[in-house]
Amino acid sequence: MKILGTGAGLPARRVYNSELAAFLDTSDEWIVSHTGIQTRYVCVEESLTDLAEAAGRQALRNAGWTAKDMDLLIAATISGDYITPSLACRVAERLGAVCPAFDVNAACSGFIYALEAADAFMAAGKAENILILACEEMSKHVDWTDRSICPLFGDGAGAVAVSCGGALRYMHLTAAGNTAPLKMRAPRGNSPFQPDVPQEDKFIRMSGQEVFKFAVQSIEKEVGLALAALSLAPEDVHLYLLHQANLRIIESARQKLKLSADKFPTNIERHGNMSSAAIPILLNEMLEAGKVAEGDILLMSAFGAGMTTGTCVWYWES
Ligand code: ACO
Repeated sequence: MKILGTGAGLPARRVYNSELAAFLDTSDEWIVSHTGIQTRYVCVEESLTDLAEAAGRQALRNAGWTAKDMDLLIAATISGDYITPSLACRVAERLGAVCPAFDVNAACSGFIYALEAADAFMAAGKAENILILACEEMSKHVDWTDRSICPLFGDGAGAVAVSCGGALRYMHLTAAGNTAPLKMRAPRGNSPFQPDVPQEDKFIRMSGQEVFKFAVQSIEKEVGLALAALSLAPEDVHLYLLHQANLRIIESARQKLKLSADKFPTNIERHGNMSSAAIPILLNEMLEAGKVAEGDILLMSAFGAGMTTGTCVWYWES
């Protein structure tokens, strides 16, 4: 598999930490020093489908495809506008695609899971040109009265158009079977036979320090496995595109590998944590900035609720 085109879609509204401090007991200093986040984009007028469509159209354009060229559309998301139809079907309708379409939920690891699904479809000879979306509207899932959660997240959509090729050299997914540290209940109806869900369970709940430890340990372990599998030294990798959840997590990985900061690009400062959308948007930014050359080795590693991880390595082919 190789990536032929990328795209991104963002809301117009950028929210600064100082705006949060106007209604929460927090400060720009606390948020920046504990997370690295300075701003995040938040949907106001836009729907997630709007962001996903924009990202998808850009990826198709960059790949030189029309919607009719797609054999499959996969969307990674935990925040589609509807539980059904899927986000993938909503975007397929907007784009005028005539291919199968479905969603994947692996939380923040969702983009890597979707890549693996796409690779499997290709390997089975069931699809050749696949559009992958990874799109999140986290602002509708956070409790805006909870200072420990709402400053962390942001909204955004990333997309990649993938086709057959030899760029993807390594893929490893895990699910730890530990769902306690990070969860959010699905909305329930009005069954008279069930008690109402407590208000606090309607939003994302996270044990921040537990997730932090899992993230640091899993990135270290998964990067080590990937490097060993490909007989690479840490410095052989040109770019480490890590999940953007906290600058301190990325910095910890960088220090363990004893590498310079330019190998660990970040966008969390501007975007906050966009869950599954973080890595594809970062990739799009790197490509637009001309930071990826033919043959460059890119390592992507994500972690998320489940607890899940996904790690892959590309030898860039255009
Ligand atoms: N402003 C001011 N104070 C705050 C804020 C805030 N926004 N948030 C928490 N605090 C306070 C707490 O109330 C606590 O106060 P107390 O000591 O009086 O009780 C104090 O700061 C310390 O809180 P901790 O939770 O211990 O702070 P910590 O240094 O662990 O940072 C954080 C919290 C940023 C959430 C960190 O644990 C973290 O990044 N964890 C990982 C999160 C993550 O990776 N999430 C992604 C999950 S996967 C996905 O992307 C969906």
